[in-house]
Amino acid sequence: MVEIEYRKARIKLGNIDLVYEPAEDSFLLADAALKEAKAGMRILEIGTGSGFVSTVLLENLKDIRLVATEINPNAATCAKTNGVEVIRTDLFKGLKSRDPETHFDLILFNPPYLPTSEEEKVPGWLNYAFDGGISGRETLDRFLDEVKDYLKPRGEVLVLISSITGLEAVKEKMEKLGFTVDVIARKKVSFEELMVVRGKIL
Ligand SMILES: C[S@@+](CC[C@H](N)C(=O)[O-])C[C@H]1O[C@@H](n2cnc3c(N)ncnc32)[C@H](O)[C@@H]1O
Repeated sequence: MVEIEYRKARIKLGNIDLVYEPAEDSFLLADAALKEAKAGMRILEIGTGSGFVSTVLLENLKDIRLVATEINPNAATCAKTNGVEVIRTDLFKGLKSRDPETHFDLILFNPPYLPTSEEEKVPGWLNYAFDGGISGRETLDRFLDEVKDYLKPRGEVLVLISSITGLEAVKEKMEKLGFTVDVIARKKVSFEELMVVRGKIL
């Protein structure tokens, strides 16, 4: 099985035809999350994929309590193999029934962020890794509409977006929902710029 090593963590990737292969977006979110997370925090990762970001956090931070969700069953199995506690579900569904303590200090999501037409969809579960709907923000918008219900007071959200996703539209939505918004990491990768957007509830 293919494995990668990143920031002291070894992550088994499983079959990359079935599970999203960690890339620059995953690395940028993992590094930003490592800076924001602190010992003792309760952390939720939505859409953990192979479990890459969660595994990096678990291997580098003491005393965190981390749970993840993932819609793709192949990815959920891969993340479990990497030692991540993962619930196979759509976004936040199933969290309440599984865990009575469903409020988190930090919630992370590297969503499918590419604008995608019907013809651009890829077959099978892997489509969930890429397909952001026509706007590129369909899954992210659903996430943002719900995320405050799962945050502790003064909790924060980190989302990975691309310049193609539209920073202004994401900022506007988050601000309307009551978040204070900052871009805390950026990286240019060929035709796009990747960004980690932080939303804080004050
Ligand atoms: C861009 S990939 C990122 C994977 C991993 N977090 C990383 O950074 O390498 C997006 C992940 O979100 C998952 N996903 C997409 N929509 C989802 C949903 N509604 N609920 C849960 N997971 C979802 C996909 O299956 C995919 O694994």
